[in-house]
Amino acid sequence: MLFLDDEENILRSLKRLCRSESFDTRFCTNPDEALDLVEREGFAVIVTDMRMPIMDGITFLRKALAIDSDSVRIVLTGYSDIEAAKAAVNEGNIFKYLNKPWDGKQLLANINEAVAYFNAKTARRRDLMKLGEFMSQMVHDIRNPIHGIRGSAELLKDYIGEQTAKEFCEIIINQTGRLNEMATELLVAYKEQNPHAPKERSAVDLQSFFLEWEQLWQQPLSERSVDMTLGVGVDCTLGLSINDFSRVLNNLITNALEIEAVDHIRVTVKVEDQGLAAVQFVDNGGGIPASVRSRIFDIFFTHGKENGTGLGLSNAKKIVEKHNGRMFVQNVDWEHGRGAAFTIMLPYISAV
Ligand SMILES: Nc1ncnc2c1ncn2[C@@H]1O[C@H](COP(=O)(O)OP(=O)(O)O)[C@@H](O)[C@H]1O
Ligand SMILES: [Mg+2]
Repeated sequence: MLFLDDEENILRSLKRLCRSESFDTRFCTNPDEALDLVEREGFAVIVTDMRMPIMDGITFLRKALAIDSDSVRIVLTGYSDIEAAKAAVNEGNIFKYLNKPWDGKQLLANINEAVAYFNAKTARRRDLMKLGEFMSQMVHDIRNPIHGIRGSAELLKDYIGEQTAKEFCEIIINQTGRLNEMATELLVAYKEQNPHAPKERSAVDLQSFFLEWEQLWQQPLSERSVDMTLGVGVDCTLGLSINDFSRVLNNLITNALEIEAVDHIRVTVKVEDQGLAAVQFVDNGGGIPASVRSRIFDIFFTHGKENGTGLGLSNAKKIVEKHNGRMFVQNVDWEHGRGAAFTIMLPYISAV
């Protein structure tokens, strides 16, 4: 718990008030020092004065919020100005606005309420993070034996002469490839739910990106006899993580190639209003039945496949949203038949 007030005697009486409680408390008269403390220690509850000489309470709360959005904020002030109260609530996102002089019992009750609110808010996320950490460690560990199996099957394939045995080795190799992909998607699902994961962005030119990406998919496309038309008419630069963006498109093309009926895919890039680029990915696999369309972006939702993980589209959407974009799907009719059309809207840096 952090208390900030420019008046020493106020802090002294707050200290006295908290003595009977089991709070771990810090008291500060200087807002800059208080921000340092927020940075270093993090607090469940921050109680601040409004009028202070170096920095006003609203500015302080806004800065504290930028450092640590979890702490629950209380304003304790003798200064009753409705505009200031409004600003504190709106900009500082505060939990309670209390008046000086305070009633000790009431103030303690309010602080305890704030602590309970903080605990409830953070408990669920903490559990999820723990589970995610455990899962991601496990997935890492599972990858080692997968690599071992794959490596051995590759060696074995060259070792044996018999064709049927070679084909079994091929199956093992392909299946370990799938296992590895699934493991990667699980790691991505964990990374995407972690608000503290680092963002690796660079300026990406979509025309050159799609040329390279098309190259990578040329072989699988021709093995499946699927034609892909690429229409990137605009020269558009986006701030992206190339890895993440490739993953989005790879998941879309993998899904399309998993549909028997698909023999055409079209990818187009257009520039829309409001600084957004629209990437559209269309196939001719018949589209998505209305009964499942609202759920395809849900984590673990899979439909009509034996080996689906239900992670592909959920990860894709999370990645797009992390880039401040939107992703949605429609069924469309086009020259090659009916199919699913996935649209990704992303803010661009520049477009010509
Ligand atoms: N292009 C598509 N056409 C029709 N249905 C699709 C298409 N892409 C995805 N789907 C549906 O959405 C579901 C979820 O996709 P996804 O999240 O990638 O998981 P998975 O591929 O592992 O099932 C798929 O199981 C499929 O039923
Ligand atoms: Mg998929």
